[in-house]
Amino acid sequence: MGQFSEEIKRRRTFAIISHPDAGKTTLTEKLLLFGGAIHVAGAVKSNKIKKTATSDWMEIEKQRGISVATSVMAFDYADHKINILDTPGHQDFAEDTFRTLTAVDSVIIVIDVAKGVEAQTRKLMEVCRMRKTPVIVFVNKMDRDGKDPFDLLDEIEEELHIHVRPLSWPIDMGQRFRGVYNLYEQKLNLYMPSKQYVTENVEFKDINSPELENYIDPAQAAKLREDVEMIEGVYPEFDVNTYLSGDIAPVFFGSALNNFGVKELLDCFIRIAPSPRPVQALERVVDPEEDAFSGFVFKIHANMDPNHRSCIAFVKVCSGKFERNVNYKHVRFGKMMRFSSPTAFMAQKKEVVDEAFAGDIVGLPDTGNFKIGDTLTAGEELHFKGLPSFSPEMFKYIENADPMKAKQLNKGIEQLMDEGVAQLFTNQFNGRKIIGTVGQLQFEVIQYRLLHEYGAQCRWEPLSLYKACWIESDNAEMLENFKKRKAQYMALDKEGRDVYLADSSYVLMMAQQDFPDIKFHFTSEF
Ligand code: G4P
Repeated sequence: MGQFSEEIKRRRTFAIISHPDAGKTTLTEKLLLFGGAIHVAGAVKSNKIKKTATSDWMEIEKQRGISVATSVMAFDYADHKINILDTPGHQDFAEDTFRTLTAVDSVIIVIDVAKGVEAQTRKLMEVCRMRKTPVIVFVNKMDRDGKDPFDLLDEIEEELHIHVRPLSWPIDMGQRFRGVYNLYEQKLNLYMPSKQYVTENVEFKDINSPELENYIDPAQAAKLREDVEMIEGVYPEFDVNTYLSGDIAPVFFGSALNNFGVKELLDCFIRIAPSPRPVQALERVVDPEEDAFSGFVFKIHANMDPNHRSCIAFVKVCSGKFERNVNYKHVRFGKMMRFSSPTAFMAQKKEVVDEAFAGDIVGLPDTGNFKIGDTLTAGEELHFKGLPSFSPEMFKYIENADPMKAKQLNKGIEQLMDEGVAQLFTNQFNGRKIIGTVGQLQFEVIQYRLLHEYGAQCRWEPLSLYKACWIESDNAEMLENFKKRKAQYMALDKEGRDVYLADSSYVLMMAQQDFPDIKFHFTSEF
């Protein structure tokens, strides 16, 4: 056991993910209220980004600037230190969210009871599945009419490819919503719409007892008994290990807006959610309880003020203790650096901190030393894995529109890519630069920032591509053949890896058929 064991064990670092409008911001806010981190509702603004029309991206960027403060929200609750990592609501920033998911130890997924599983949830869950991140599901808006809970659970299993196990069960919904039976704690949590919180919290071990009718009406009681019997019959008993291994997601029902079921969720969360987990580095697995500090940069947040081109690099502490003004090794540079004003984000305020432990996030003011994926250690040569690039969805050629400013343009592109704004590919055939993004918005952001921060002008040229595939093969001859045949479609990513740019799903399918020994990956890490 390491000397910081106690500190590390009490940490819970997680993200809340959802499709926009399912209630992520509302839930986050209620959690912060419990932790005393905020005192009034309406204090969390970060995700209101999505409410802005997509075309108004200047406004969005401005809000992104504001949202630095809410990038990480830390608070203490029942002897635990909770770190919530915020993820952008707008789908064009999905790549940011993917990366944030590499820095969390678990995830809460919010699902709108009326809408069920939506597109963005599906995508984000893929990343969780890939990483075997433990997931808890919160079905929100039970005060509104929605899908039948059993149907919804089936939908979650099917669409998210994960087994579920309800730990609470709703008593009706919409106008007739009476609360939930907490299967985990065997308690009846009752709800009154006018009161807007758990009005009664009754220990209730045996719902077959006629006393149940003292609390809810007979028809609802009968239905609850029937449902619970069904649950016990259909779903295996909850085993925390299957949750921790990412195989089963416990499900809670509630209403974030009415603060109903949120405390129950939080209480269960701190009991079952994992404390910081071991992290895989190229060289070895790093245990959080090791005494020596290590961490990696998972996000870089640019300052929107063009006069101060400084950023904040967000570092997830993977092991040991990080200390202010202590020398740490920037592994990619092979040089020691120390940080005089690392910040943490307690109670929504950005504060300089003297120390941080595994599980925590520290913000390091940076002027271009860091890029996403960089490792910091107490001296050891470590490279953390698990920050893959995903195939972009949109591609464009980027061209220089001001020949006098070629140098500025190249520097700008390089730095923006280091920040993770988008991905750069260089065509091996003609040397042209291709930018790949998740959404149209990024192209506008890049163009604007190149002009305002680097004084460079760019022009976009259309390029119709389907996917970027990172390729590998044990069959060197076949690989060479492939590269020759597809020379016009071969590119290098920023790290110099071979990428095949498929222009349609059909062409990709044919390539897979014709070159069976080549593996085509849609992420850069495999
Ligand atoms: P998001 O971050 O996932 O995008 O969702 P957010 O919390 O902003 O919630 C989206 C809308 O759903 C908000 O209404 C919010 O008040 C509402 N909402 C959240 N939880 C519940 C719930 O349990 N029951 C009901 N009935 N509504 C809920 P809005 O009108 O779009 O925004 P606002 O003007 O209230 O902020």
